Amino acid sequence: MKTVMVVVGTRPEIIKMAPLIRALQANKIPLIFTHCGQHYDYNMSQQFIEELELPKPDFSYKLRAYSQGIQTARIITYMEKLLKKTTPKLVLVEGDTNGVLATALAAVKLGVSVGHVEAGLRSFDFRMPEEHNRRLTDHISSYLFAPTETAKNNLEKENVWGKIYVTGNTVIDAVIQHLPIAKKKSKILESVHFKKFALATAHRAENVDDLTVLKNFVEAFAEAPIPVVYPMHPRTKKRLRQNKIYAKVRKIKNLEILSPLGYLDFLVLMEKCEMIITDSGGIQEEATAPPIRKPVLVIRLSTERPEAVKAGFAEVVGVEKDKIVKAIERTLKQPKKMSGKSPYGDGDAAENITRIIKEELDF
Ligand code: UD1
Ligand code: UDP
Repeated sequence: MKTVMVVVGTRPEIIKMAPLIRALQANKIPLIFTHCGQHYDYNMSQQFIEELELPKPDFSYKLRAYSQGIQTARIITYMEKLLKKTTPKLVLVEGDTNGVLATALAAVKLGVSVGHVEAGLRSFDFRMPEEHNRRLTDHISSYLFAPTETAKNNLEKENVWGKIYVTGNTVIDAVIQHLPIAKKKSKILESVHFKKFALATAHRAENVDDLTVLKNFVEAFAEAPIPVVYPMHPRTKKRLRQNKIYAKVRKIKNLEILSPLGYLDFLVLMEKCEMIITDSGGIQEEATAPPIRKPVLVIRLSTERPEAVKAGFAEVVGVEKDKIVKAIERTLKQPKKMSGKSPYGDGDAAENITRIIKEELDF
């Protein structure tokens, strides 16, 4: 039987693949669902599969924290064995993680076509592991599902080998599909201590693995002219602990640190907050979804999401404490002029990708 394998490995991949899994199922395309194991804590992985009511993965790999090289190598080895056993016609990967590159490499070396969802993003910041992963994956994919024209242009400039399609980003589908459920089910607002707050996240390696930047973030949140609610990524918690500042950070009055949240709770916080302060990729996109529409201060030196900046949502503010605090003050005083439409599509990206797969692979 001809099948399509959908591979996920981290929190954002599960969220962004959820609408596509549903669309493939609705179109009766035989599906193999695989978790390659990059994220493994319940609240970074299985929680999302359950909450988003996805099927139980047909195959799951158990991987623990290793160096980037070992992590990538182990996923290649696992995926090669699995692909030989299951022989899918197409492997779909999403985004720019080590698991994405590892899976795409394993597939292409066995002659299995790769479809890259969210192809063509470029930060032009070569310190970032994500920039290596997305560039390499784009060049070994047969089908490149670019979310925007900008992403398509990046791919054309690099003369990629595969076929390019502009589809929108499935994260907008995810917001539209889940926010109404989140508003009914989530109780997160009952436990958050502040009525008005900024929502913060930070986990990028080039930020939190650098003690100066990590401290800048914490100090900026402590001095912010609005309380900050901060669901903390395990990588960041680990770095704070290693540097023996986690206990101190927990005592900051203005700052409410939470464990990584489920998607429904996080959606409700995005909808309710005054602004988002983040180095996340996906959150920059979600903030542009019409039911969310929130200003985003990007605490990084670059973004691979320039569309969110152009549409008035995002601002790249850098990683220095004073610049972050000033940007928060400015955003509170002068509300941003944000487009009524998301540059990442209308919530039909998963339908678009499914239609292309049906046509190209004759399902
Ligand atoms: C990875 C991706 C990043 C993505 C992010 C989503 C790469 C290079 N990075 O970053 O692009 O934005 O996922 O959240 O692929 N950890 C746990 N439990 C987990 C997962 C991670 O404790 O379930 C801790 C471990 O200490 C681990 C560290 O976080 O060593 C880093 O995890 P890793 O998956 O390598 O990178 P992320 O920072 O999560
Ligand atoms: N998210 C979540 N709970 C959290 C923090 C984030 O559900 O506590 C969601 C968020 O809505 C977005 C995704 O996780 O869809 C972003 O993941 P992350 O920032 O880890 O990765 P990135 O998008 O930067 O690759």
